Amino acid sequence: MARLIRVEATGPYKIEPKDFPTDGKSIFICACGLSNRLPYCDGTHKNCRSVEQPGKLYTYDMTTKQVMKEEIDNGGPTP
Ligand code: FES
Repeated sequence: MARLIRVEATGPYKIEPKDFPTDGKSIFICACGLSNRLPYCDGTHKNCRSVEQPGKLYTYDMTTKQVMKEEIDNGGPTP
């Protein structure tokens, strides 16, 4: 499974030292691309786990975080 994410940012996310916990708690950085709180994980990845299947490529509506398109993942670039 894989997903296409539309990204319009042209620069990095800045994480200030004050954002690092001093109590030993972990910080989770979003790797699925769907978080509403990038660069932090907000749990939206749970949608991926419940919907996506191996061998498929998914395109999400970034407003609703719902799958707009599902196709066979051939591993290549898409138009
Ligand atoms: S990994 Fe993306 S929201 Fe959790």
